[in-house]
Amino acid sequence: MKTIDIHSHFYPDSFPDLDTRFGDGDWPGFRKVSDEKGMITLGGEDYRPIYDACWKGERRIEEMDKYAVDVQIMCATPILFAYEKPARQALECAKVINDEALRLCSHNPARLKAMCQVPLQDIDMACYEVSRAMECGHVAVQIGNHVKDKNLDDEGIVTFLQHCASINAPVLIHPWDMMSPERMPKYMLQWLVAMPAETQLSILSLILSGSFERLPENLKLCFAHGGGSFAYLMGRVDNAWRERDIVRNDCPNLPSSYMDRFYVDSAVFSDDALDLLVKCSGTERIMFGTDYPFPLGEIEMGALVRGHPTLSDQQKASILADNAAGFFNI
Ligand code: CO
Repeated sequence: MKTIDIHSHFYPDSFPDLDTRFGDGDWPGFRKVSDEKGMITLGGEDYRPIYDACWKGERRIEEMDKYAVDVQIMCATPILFAYEKPARQALECAKVINDEALRLCSHNPARLKAMCQVPLQDIDMACYEVSRAMECGHVAVQIGNHVKDKNLDDEGIVTFLQHCASINAPVLIHPWDMMSPERMPKYMLQWLVAMPAETQLSILSLILSGSFERLPENLKLCFAHGGGSFAYLMGRVDNAWRERDIVRNDCPNLPSSYMDRFYVDSAVFSDDALDLLVKCSGTERIMFGTDYPFPLGEIEMGALVRGHPTLSDQQKASILADNAAGFFNI
């Protein structure tokens, strides 16, 4: 069965020292530890260890072969977004990272594809960079699920999404910069609790603000990690919409009726969770995603979908590759 992984990350091992370039000290960087190991740095301090799959094409292909993944679409590690920086600098950072992504793909252009990043704090620059990058060979754009206190229903972000639809650029929305870190200092709770809630917040901000009424139907949106906690809570949201006018104010239709406006990936790590997602979104709106090559990703890539006890081969084929081929035009 053909397999396209739509959610994987890269991190370049060589890009300019951004601290020096911009004269301020908390940009992401890279420190080589050994041939196979590296360290993401932030303002020169060690931040997180990574291994060479993040930056070496041959290493990725080797692991893709091991798990029979035909194509991998990769996007930047969200620490590179630079949404909190001056927009001009974030645009320059995006160009550097986007060009590095294409360089990594050039190792095997048929099997490695890239999504670009954009300086989403400045809508004109974000529109400019997504157009430039798509012309250069990127297949989509990845955005963070918020810019400081602006959710996806922000007027500027909606304008950006309209622009993406107009140039046929698919959009992956990835949670980042998680809420309430002060209450989640340990046990990776930011990843286990806040990250799924961030995605839930993004989906609801689009639905309840009525943004989907303003966004064109041909906009291709996909939310990472199975859409976070949205599927389990859709009944709660529908109930609130029926019972409370403040929930209905800007949203003319039942919240769950908008579920056909977006895709989700399959990175949910449990048969039951994937079942629920199939019931909510339908197999035609779920795309195989691993979060490779990070430890919270699906290490044995494809095992969940391929080994699912009740999905048919046809359904598995849709999730593993067919939906993504259409979504990303590949
Ligand atoms: Co990810």
